[in-house]
Amino acid sequence: MIPPTLEVRGVEKSYGETVALAGVDLVVEPGTIVGLLGPNGAGKTSLVSIVAGLRRPDAGEVRVGGFDVVGDTDAAQALIGIAPQDTGVYLIASVRENLAYFAGLAGLRKWDLQAAIERVADALGLEELLDRRAMDLSGGERRRLHTAMALVHQPKLVLLDEPTTGADVRTRRQILDLVRALAAQGSAVVYSTHYLHEIEELDAAVELIDHGRIVARGDVQGLIRDHGVSALVLTFDGDVPETVRVADAVVEGSSARIAATDPARTAADLLPRLGGDSDRLRAIEVVQPSLEAVFLSLTGRRYESDDEGEEVPAA
Ligand SMILES: Nc1ncnc2c1ncn2[C@@H]1O[C@H](COP(=O)(O)OP(=O)(O)O)[C@@H](O)[C@H]1O
Ligand SMILES: [Mg+2]
Repeated sequence: MIPPTLEVRGVEKSYGETVALAGVDLVVEPGTIVGLLGPNGAGKTSLVSIVAGLRRPDAGEVRVGGFDVVGDTDAAQALIGIAPQDTGVYLIASVRENLAYFAGLAGLRKWDLQAAIERVADALGLEELLDRRAMDLSGGERRRLHTAMALVHQPKLVLLDEPTTGADVRTRRQILDLVRALAAQGSAVVYSTHYLHEIEELDAAVELIDHGRIVARGDVQGLIRDHGVSALVLTFDGDVPETVRVADAVVEGSSARIAATDPARTAADLLPRLGGDSDRLRAIEVVQPSLEAVFLSLTGRRYESDDEGEEVPAA
């Protein structure tokens, strides 16, 4: 029987008083993409680093292709390609030299190495830049090189830790497309991000992580179906009238957010009861269930992220 590409069992990790991982289990089969989604500080980088054998867990076990990452680090690492959260490229070396170094570490030689460099450069739009020094790349181009270095040897397990942070639109698209292509070729991919909309776009198997625990897992649509709540938002000029202050309403300023499985029906029920207050009604909004609503309903907190949706233009 083929073992899962990645098996994480009961992994715990603390830094002094800070509990970063409080018992995480995760199984990733070949050819699948797991979206590790969580706000800043959730434990994503700790988990990815432990899986890659770069940090040691306090408890638990990690197996990559059946090899124990702690006991059999070399064998496990040979199967892994990792792009850590912080970009690390050799600035004074060319794009080609950076890629050749990592392909060489993975044991690729001569024609195989050349072919591997060309394939990954092509997929990430680096083919025209192969002989340029990394220090002379734009931010987006450097991001793509950093990701290419993790993927050049077509690893069985791909670990990408927030690969699109600070990436321009084109870079993000190329990285997401390549992730899908790698999975289609049989790699297992762990893709960490704090961007909710990126996970919706990738349509990955979601592992929602918060305070070092997996709080939900499943496909995006399933999570939304099980935990997402749609709502009707009514905004008034002035105070929210009593007729709208129903049991499921949360009033904030001059708006009321009313959780409803069928917001249109709720609107049809409430609006005729407004009477004279209907003159003050300024906006009616139907909020569809989303991953954001899933997070809210599972943790009781809004999904905070300072730069959600931020697109930094390429330099
Ligand atoms: N080297 C470290 N020393 C102390 N605390 C750390 C260290 N690395 C991470 N942490 C803490 O562990 C928690 C999880 O961090 P991290 O794994 O980086 O989360 P994420 O990648 O999801 O933002 C955070 O509270 C963070 O401050
Ligand atoms: Mg991180």
